Amino acid sequence: MLERPRRNRASETIRSMVRETRLDLANLIFPLFVVDGTGKKEPIGALPGIFRFSEDYVVKEVEECMNLGLRSFVLFPAVEDSLKDKTATYSYSEKNFYLRIISRLKKEFPESCLMSDVAMDPYSSDGHDGLVENGRILNDETLGILGKMAVAQAEAGIDIIGPSDMMDGRVQHIREELDDEDFENVAIMSYCAKYASAYYGPFREALASAPKSGDKKTYQMDPANKWEAVREGELDVAEGADFLMVKPALLYLDVIHLLKEKFELPIAAYNVSGEYAMLKAAAANGWLNYDQAMPEMLLSFKRAGATSILTYAAKEYAQMLKEGRLA
Ligand code: PBG
Repeated sequence: MLERPRRNRASETIRSMVRETRLDLANLIFPLFVVDGTGKKEPIGALPGIFRFSEDYVVKEVEECMNLGLRSFVLFPAVEDSLKDKTATYSYSEKNFYLRIISRLKKEFPESCLMSDVAMDPYSSDGHDGLVENGRILNDETLGILGKMAVAQAEAGIDIIGPSDMMDGRVQHIREELDDEDFENVAIMSYCAKYASAYYGPFREALASAPKSGDKKTYQMDPANKWEAVREGELDVAEGADFLMVKPALLYLDVIHLLKEKFELPIAAYNVSGEYAMLKAAAANGWLNYDQAMPEMLLSFKRAGATSILTYAAKEYAQMLKEGRLA
């Protein structure tokens, strides 16, 4: 007898009945770039449809997303060069516009879920995620700065802290600092397996945060390594992480799958700027159908094992869902 798997694909009703994976709007986290000032909505060359928003505009953007049913956001600051220094002091300064925007958004949209970025690079005159001395990135000396940054964000009302720096021991340090200040309910989504990837290019353009010298290979992971991601996962679990993130996502589906198999914590996938840019560029050339290719890409993260998906396509997906344009 011939096996006929096609019988279970015979109609949309049957396909829908046997479908193993469903992407839900609740799985998506939308990255938002913010700048100081008012009246700003600046386009970013390599990220069509994505902007740097000032406070007034980011409030509007979040409101639009909330109305579409998209309620989770990760915020990144684009900081003026004159405010950057070696030790990233502006990151926890009372004058920091990023912290002000977090407070404003949390006040206006209490039911939203807001996630931060913890790393020195947006604030560092060296453009590195850690403290630089004689061309070396200092690990333990960086932890104190990351801790202060995290506590300042918690005070502003953040729900989830997102350490993206890849220093050793930072999850534990941040957890202790948060607990000491009575922020035991603030979660940590650790950038657990964050690779030294060329696919962060458009993001660094958006924030003008590229390293001034050298690269990030002494702290971000080697793209060739998979088992090292398990070691990072074990450490982050032991140190108190609430989520484990894999980044980039599309090129590292095997790593997402591996961490999902190994750990009980929810797995997050960061569909990074270069992955979004690739799809947009192909679509602009008429080489791919974006409305089909984008949802298929997002679904692949869920199928691989991620439940939290950080993606620049989140708002488009929400719009498509609302307009009934998703098959
Ligand atoms: C910075 C940070 C980066 C991204 C998120 N946080 C860039 C980097 O590590 O150089 C990249 C996100 C993207 O490309 O979409 N710590």
